Amino acid sequence: MRLFVTKYPHYHIVNLDALTYAGNLENLRDIDQLPNYSFCKADILDTAAIDAIFTEHQPDAVIHLAAESHVDRSILSPLDFVYTNVIGTVNLLNAAKKHWAGHFEGKRFHHVSTDEVFGALGNTGLFTETTSYDPHSPYSASKASSDHFVRAYHDTYGLPITITNCSNNYGPNHFPEKLIPLFINNIINRKPLPVYGDGLYTRDWLYVIDHAVAIDTVLHDGKTGATYAVGGFNEWTNIDLVKLLCRLMDEKLGRATCESEQQITYVKDRPGHDRRYAIDATKINTELGWKPSVTFEEGLSITIDWYLQNTAWLQNVTSGAYTEYYKKVYG
Ligand code: DAU
Repeated sequence: MRLFVTKYPHYHIVNLDALTYAGNLENLRDIDQLPNYSFCKADILDTAAIDAIFTEHQPDAVIHLAAESHVDRSILSPLDFVYTNVIGTVNLLNAAKKHWAGHFEGKRFHHVSTDEVFGALGNTGLFTETTSYDPHSPYSASKASSDHFVRAYHDTYGLPITITNCSNNYGPNHFPEKLIPLFINNIINRKPLPVYGDGLYTRDWLYVIDHAVAIDTVLHDGKTGATYAVGGFNEWTNIDLVKLLCRLMDEKLGRATCESEQQITYVKDRPGHDRRYAIDATKINTELGWKPSVTFEEGLSITIDWYLQNTAWLQNVTSGAYTEYYKKVYG
């Protein structure tokens, strides 16, 4: 959002958000008064509200990022993921199809998806745009379904779509249920760091701004109907990542070397846990010139600094309902 609003002052950007548990208008305080930005509180399941927003703003492009996105929550409550990720996506597709009414010149529906739709890799190999779908969690099954609907609207109605399937993101303002912000918060508060299973699961990490730049690149220069796999060329086992995080945080917090590592606790594994994800981002690199701009240590350092400077934000989002969720997942 911030990237588009500041980079394109001549665009009018409408931010549509249902503001559920992870939504937070605090995150956009620095841009919310800019003349090219508007906010609409609406749920993508509410067809009348979506219709009204299309009528009022007549968008040329839709960037669809709205999703239930956390795997552990999808295990607790799969239907929420079907509603938002599948039915919500079809609602948005219908609105674009109706309002663009076959006049697709200069229009674009960009769908933001995940590498989790491809399932799990063994010790070698990488996901590409042509990897078969093989989702294992209710979350990834719902995202896989949404991808299929987006492609179906292209093939059936000619809707001008693009899709990006991205690897794990990290960065400032990230709700502390995902591994990196959760562990930063727990290190700060000297709470246990709950590593699932043997800790040897592998993820490919990308700094959030680099993901935003990839979306911008595909929205403007991507081929209609095409999919682009986006990743950081940056694979880490969870345990190595957690140890790196502990080391960087001990340095920044002035704690003794290895002090935070003492908080690492191996806990029961996540059901259906995919062993390894890793993206081959060659297509977006060679066709569109995109590549990650920061190293992992740089990105992590910026991220940790942001959380250390925004402890009030962290306290705010981890009060109330967060505590209930935490008890359900971690006991
Ligand atoms: O790959 C892209 C996906 O990355 C996105 O589509 C998802 O929306 C996003 O949630 C993320 O999925 P993961 O399940 O990989 O992310 P998460 O941060 O939940 O977990 C990362 C790894 O760390 C995973 O192997 C599970 C492990 N983990 C996670 C948590 C929250 C732990 O060991 N302990 C934890 O407490």
